[in-house]
Amino acid sequence: MSTTDRDRLDGRRALVTGGSKGAGKAIAARLRELGADVYVTARSMPEGYEFPDRFIAADTSTSEGTDLVARRMTDSGGVGILVHNVGGSSTPPGGFAVVTDQQWLTEVNLNFLGAVRLDRALLPAMVGSGSGVVVHVTSIQHEMPLYEATLPYAAAKAALRTYSKGLANEVGPRGVRVNAVSPGGIQTEGYEGFVDRVADGKGLTRDEAKQDILDWLGGVPLGQFARTDEIADLVGFLVSDRASAIMGAEYVIDGGTVPTT
Ligand SMILES: NC(=O)c1ccc[n+]([C@@H]2O[C@H](COP(=O)([O-])OP(=O)(O)OC[C@H]3O[C@@H](n4cnc5c(N)ncnc54)[C@H](OP(=O)(O)O)[C@@H]3O)[C@@H](O)[C@H]2O)c1
Repeated sequence: MSTTDRDRLDGRRALVTGGSKGAGKAIAARLRELGADVYVTARSMPEGYEFPDRFIAADTSTSEGTDLVARRMTDSGGVGILVHNVGGSSTPPGGFAVVTDQQWLTEVNLNFLGAVRLDRALLPAMVGSGSGVVVHVTSIQHEMPLYEATLPYAAAKAALRTYSKGLANEVGPRGVRVNAVSPGGIQTEGYEGFVDRVADGKGLTRDEAKQDILDWLGGVPLGQFARTDEIADLVGFLVSDRASAIMGAEYVIDGGTVPTT
């Protein structure tokens, strides 16, 4: 497919959180392909990383981490495209009763407050210039919460989705577009780690754990999880001028997993 001027992101500065692996890595690659100057943040830089001067090592689940990222971006010229992709779940299986306060806070800090803190630091400049684009990567779990091992994650993603909508209403009239992308399953290291946790926690093989997760989801009508490049194509579209009328929306990309409209 050929790209046109309205697809291109030349001259735009972008930040992708959690951009070293999985969907984030694919999103960063797609935005670069479209011409953006892309910065990536994650806790550690992958060995042999191709763009070391565009990598910011930080734990974005802490306020120190988001302060560092915001400072680096601001000092180097600001940001016009902000993709909050970082997220994941580390709570053990066992249901609501076994999840500790600390585990709840860990999930909320990683999946929700990191985005809130970065937006608070970086959006005022976008609003000041009258332009900018923000994407929050949530999950279908915000509307279809699984409870066995990921209830805090699902609740944190729900907070992110609600926050994303309210933020869109607030900054949209001042030229900043905010949207959400809600994937179903994606084949990533994060997903494989989740399979391991379910297998360990329930005494299952990895194949049995994968089936268990599919059963929780009620199946995937398309027959497979999304690829990371499919998530990246959607994000690339949403941050481009082609999506100039799309605002406060949620794009579900789940192969039909959510059974309702
Ligand atoms: N995979 C799925 O099935 C699925 C389904 C629905 C929604 N999602 C959402 O899609 C997004 C991407 O998921 P993914 O599966 O691609 O993730 P992933 O493969 O686990 O990669 C996570 C990325 O975030 C970084 N990261 C993790 N914890 C961090 C922290 N505390 N501070 C800074 N960076 C951190 C990781 O690098 P470091 O480890 O070096 O920090 C890595 O770059 C997430 O928001 C996830 O919730 C995923």
